[in-house]
Amino acid sequence: MLTTSLFATVALAATALAQNSTNSTAFSLKVAGSGGNSTSPLQYGIMFEDINHSGDGGIYAEMIQNRAFQGDAIFPSNLNAWHSVDGAALTLQNTSNPLSAALPTSMNVAYNKSAYGLPQTSIGFYNDGWWGFEVQPKTYTGSFWVYGAYSGSFKASLQSYLTKDVWATANITSHSVAGSWTQHNFTLQPTTAAPNVNNTFSITFDPSGVKDGSLNFNLISLFPPTYKNRPNGMRVDLMEALAGLTPSFLRMPGGNNIEGNDPPYRWYWNQTIGPLKDRPGYSGTWGYENTNGLGLVEYLHWCIDLNMEPILALWAGFYLSGPVTPENELGPIVQEALDELDFIMGPTSTPMGALREQLGYGAEPIYEIKYVEIGNEDNLGGGEGSYVGYRYKAFYDAIHTRWPDITIVASTVEITLPSTHAAGDYHQYTRPDYFVSQYSFFDHNASYPQTLIGEYATVQPNIAAGGGVNWNAARSPWPFWIGTVAEAVFLIGAERNSDAILGASYAPLLQNLNSYEWAPDLISFTADYSQDVLSTSYHMIKLLSNTRFAHTLPASTTNSLNGPVYFVAGEFADGRKGMKAAVYNSTGVVPMSIAFEGCTEGQAANLTVLTAPDGDSYNSVGSDVVKSSTSVVRAKANGVFEFGLPNLSIALLETE
Ligand code: AHR
Repeated sequence: MLTTSLFATVALAATALAQNSTNSTAFSLKVAGSGGNSTSPLQYGIMFEDINHSGDGGIYAEMIQNRAFQGDAIFPSNLNAWHSVDGAALTLQNTSNPLSAALPTSMNVAYNKSAYGLPQTSIGFYNDGWWGFEVQPKTYTGSFWVYGAYSGSFKASLQSYLTKDVWATANITSHSVAGSWTQHNFTLQPTTAAPNVNNTFSITFDPSGVKDGSLNFNLISLFPPTYKNRPNGMRVDLMEALAGLTPSFLRMPGGNNIEGNDPPYRWYWNQTIGPLKDRPGYSGTWGYENTNGLGLVEYLHWCIDLNMEPILALWAGFYLSGPVTPENELGPIVQEALDELDFIMGPTSTPMGALREQLGYGAEPIYEIKYVEIGNEDNLGGGEGSYVGYRYKAFYDAIHTRWPDITIVASTVEITLPSTHAAGDYHQYTRPDYFVSQYSFFDHNASYPQTLIGEYATVQPNIAAGGGVNWNAARSPWPFWIGTVAEAVFLIGAERNSDAILGASYAPLLQNLNSYEWAPDLISFTADYSQDVLSTSYHMIKLLSNTRFAHTLPASTTNSLNGPVYFVAGEFADGRKGMKAAVYNSTGVVPMSIAFEGCTEGQAANLTVLTAPDGDSYNSVGSDVVKSSTSVVRAKANGVFEFGLPNLSIALLETE
């Protein structure tokens, strides 16, 4: 785990370039009343894969860790997070009669007389949760499956690990019988909030009521209230944080996590659907087993709930360690993708459409998919030759024939694209100065394909010599302010060319601070909802995303386009005019003069400015360094708005 080394190496000191350069010239801009080269807003979206326990242990609201003892050759089944209560002996078993083919391993719970000597009236087990349990006066919904004859009742409890205070208990009458699995449901209703998340969840029972000496348990589940009360749904706090960004799309489910490291372990869409007991899970690429509780349909529900378009990544015949599907064996892989699309939106006359209905997802399409992405970063790791040679084309041809309105995104821009319904995915992890140098990267260039900026982030500070990311060195533990401003410059450059861009999504999106593989991340969290960290970059994206221009407006300046002011001007859907700017590398406050055609003396405009104490500043648990100030600016006699912007600021000026 990189956790400690990343925190130990807080490499945020090198912002010399931003502090020392010399440009404090006044900046003036004349914005025309019409025209502009981009006629649609830049779509800000989100990218998600299960990394950093962002799915299991994260936004997927299941509170029980290792609920079904899932595993495979990469991450074998284990009893992690489970502990004995009062002398119970816990062992993993593959019973001859498993809960399901997908979940063959269960936890056997036997009375361990030697542990106590005296007969116990209550034994069982407890779970650590995902590094704790948040306990609030809410209704928690749980269930578990039992195998074996037991007459009596089970007791499910949420309890403090430290003080043993019991926050809630449910007594559940057993209907468990010999020779079969039965599901037991319950709710827990704490009446007070626990003071911290150092809590456990337990199930206990009277061993004297057990007929054959032991019971087996599987799929032990507990959910808090979820966003929009979806069964098997999502954490409310994190969904609300995402809703604050008004994202337009969700690129999912990867990222590396769709690709798999080695055969045969990778994302199989059809193993993520239907009842939870029929989902085997998979050894994700980020160091832990994925339960697949957050499956294909849950992703689509997420899109519905936040009003986002799915950009659905399809496995493209390539594993991260290099194995690639030969051209003559690609047919079934392409068919798998077509099946996935039929499952989501095909008529019930197709086998997959029928499966959708049979599984209870309804006869109607779950979502009319408009975007798919073929693989992820197939230009890397030796994948490029086959991707450019035959893989992308095979998918494009098959999908375009069956679903001609779908835009088929290539996972790289290093490819010549078909002339219609195609785009390339551009990823950029870099340092602040490099992002700033990319301000004009998307300026209209006929040879460039339509681009999805599917992943971007500042991951290391500037270094005196410039240069790219050192992937052997620690990355910054958190987004930091100069990096955030540099990302804003890059995004403002993208906004200037938004017709050429499908959208932009920061990556990775989420990070469980107790166990993660990748920093920095847009939003960090723990089991304690009050500890969510909305990063500096979150605040920047929130400002830009919630103030989208309907179209850009031409703007002329006599200042340099190489900074320190980087801008885009445009018109909102309601006719108001605006300018977004980021100041990077000024020596002090930059005097700004902005003239919008048609504005006269006294016209009011709202100015919002984001700043932070310095370029190294970052947000962490309990601290938010980003200051947002708003003021009203009135146009001077010549209709010009005058105000100052400090170095490392992000600003929005919008006429009233
Ligand atoms: O965002 C983390 C990883 O970075 C993604 O999984 C991958 O696409 C990229 O290399």
